Amino acid sequence: MLSLSEPIILAIESSCDDTGVALMRGVRHVLAQGLSSQIDRHSAFGGVVPEFAGRMHLQALLPLVSRVLGSAGLTDPAHQLGAVAVTAGPGLIGSLFVGVMGAKALCQAWGLPLIGVNHLEGHLFAPLVEHHELDFPYLGLIVSGGHTELILCHAPGRYERLAQTRDDAAGEAFDKLSKVLGMGYPGGPKVQAAAEGGDPKAYALPRPAFDGSKDFSFSGLKTAALDVINRARMKGQPPDAAGLCASFQAAVIDCLKARVLWAVEYTGVRSLALSGGVAANEPLRRALMSERGFTTYAPRAAFCTDNAVMIGAAGAVAYRAGRFSDLTLQPTPNWELTAGC
Ligand code: KG4
Ligand code: ZN
Repeated sequence: MLSLSEPIILAIESSCDDTGVALMRGVRHVLAQGLSSQIDRHSAFGGVVPEFAGRMHLQALLPLVSRVLGSAGLTDPAHQLGAVAVTAGPGLIGSLFVGVMGAKALCQAWGLPLIGVNHLEGHLFAPLVEHHELDFPYLGLIVSGGHTELILCHAPGRYERLAQTRDDAAGEAFDKLSKVLGMGYPGGPKVQAAAEGGDPKAYALPRPAFDGSKDFSFSGLKTAALDVINRARMKGQPPDAAGLCASFQAAVIDCLKARVLWAVEYTGVRSLALSGGVAANEPLRRALMSERGFTTYAPRAAFCTDNAVMIGAAGAVAYRAGRFSDLTLQPTPNWELTAGC
């Protein structure tokens, strides 16, 4: 998939609380990248505050573009770049707006084509950047703060959703548990760290049953964990936080694994691309990688959470296919991946 004749694409990601910029040649070659995280600003509130997020993207974006161009030694973007790719949705409207308007302005200034990328397609492509043996068709499990989706990726641009969450996203459930335990935001890494010292059988937490639907559901699990905390506090005792985190994490992993096993069986596809922030969870990666019958490809942690490299990878594929956007591109907060990109 790598060809030096491919153009360099400047990619921008700003759908939530991370401003990312990357320079990619094709799907695999990362020339430079940078990320400006807003976590410190939002953590006091236990989650992302959309108002702050938009403003901080505005402050961060253009200096980051300059820095990334500089670190790749590009001084003449109008002639050295082939296109600008930007996340156009789904995401927070104010955050998306900054990236999309910024990308449109750069395209106007440099006379470059624009590529609007679906954020979820970016996540699905993240494992392709480093795992060169991964190829279509593959199953994509996106587990992030906003999404939990199992997608059959037939070919670039052809996606079939097999399952999605009926309520909370997996990352959202991690974040909520962490918040209630007073461990801070984002919750996933804190829960993972706390779980290291805990017994995954400390609490019997529910696993949503496989009824007629293959969808995910995490609100029952979240409520059960919060009940444990409330009951302990009512008795004047702190809950066994390590045990609760370990039990909770084990339940999330079981739920995800059960749907993946079903999907492998149902589709006959034996490659799984794991992506999204929760894909950085080490026990989840180990659990899926140790399964026989299919191979799990997970990106490094920095490419699991939001980043512009994955947007550049999706942009490179769109470029090859001649899938460009025009300059009337608008941010689309609810852009469904399966509605076409
Ligand atoms: O993909 P991402 O950066 O942003 C969204 O598109 O949502 O995912 C962020 C989510 C947060 O909910 C965060 O708690 C979770 O990913 N996360 C983790 C881990 N690292 C990040 N969840 C579990 N274990 C982790 N190590
Ligand atoms: Zn994401």
